[in-house]
Amino acid sequence: MSEVETSGPLPIARAVEPLRAQVSTWRAAGLKVGFVPTMGALHDGHLGLVRDALTRADRVVASVFVNPTQFAPHEDLDRYPRQEARDAELLAGAGCHLLFAPTPTVMYPEGFVTRVEVGGPSAGLETDFRPHFFGGVAVVVAKLLNQVQADVAVFGEKDYQQLLVVRRLARDLDIPTEIVGSPTARDARGLALSSRNAYLSPAELETARRLNVVLREAGASARAGSVANAEGQAVRDLEAAGFGPVDYVAIRRADDLAPFAGDRINAPARILAAAWLGRTRLIDNLPV
Ligand code: PAF
Repeated sequence: MSEVETSGPLPIARAVEPLRAQVSTWRAAGLKVGFVPTMGALHDGHLGLVRDALTRADRVVASVFVNPTQFAPHEDLDRYPRQEARDAELLAGAGCHLLFAPTPTVMYPEGFVTRVEVGGPSAGLETDFRPHFFGGVAVVVAKLLNQVQADVAVFGEKDYQQLLVVRRLARDLDIPTEIVGSPTARDARGLALSSRNAYLSPAELETARRLNVVLREAGASARAGSVANAEGQAVRDLEAAGFGPVDYVAIRRADDLAPFAGDRINAPARILAAAWLGRTRLIDNLPV
């Protein structure tokens, strides 16, 4: 059985046994355990999730695993940034207690055949453009939640549809970890922090900062009138700003992402978008 590695700034478990041994020790001491799953390339948004988890738990585990099953063959799995040493330092600085960095074989051993399919909130939006995505997320998140066995897990609202899918997964499969959403961290001009922002040129970064502005304007316009008109105008505004293609701009019910019947907002709503800038696909969402 491998041990927890203790030579760096943060203890690292690379297999399930040492992870569970550490979590059991904390639990036996009466400590509450929090969990923040990530794919690494950490930025202040991830560290905010750790800080959020620290307000809810006595010990926090973060995972770093670039999950191959949530990438389609043509997507950016190979160029997805990997920087474990830096991530470990950042996590230690944020107050995290343990890094779980499993190997691909720990997560997907030879002969792995299980699929997890979540219905409900996974329909449409991301699934229309990345049909493999939530199957990959569901299987890895189900595994991670079972492996860590935390009291509470914190997910970013930046991936709002993913947050709803994970909540439903945990509820439907009786996974006894409370799933908490944490507000999106943004730069001074409202750009949602994302590991994929690292792909953007300075000019693209400038354009990227229009995304949250357009969504805010579209949300206000939908509140005052037609949902469909606001969505259509937002797509045109994003294209005029230099985005293309715009995969979607959608204003949906915040609790289950169902569309509004009758073209009017009559319940808590969320505006969600995905759009390309060069080779980079950005997503964002805001409460309306
Ligand atoms: O949001 C992410 O970073 C990933 O989708 C997650 C939840 C860590 C699963 O790989």
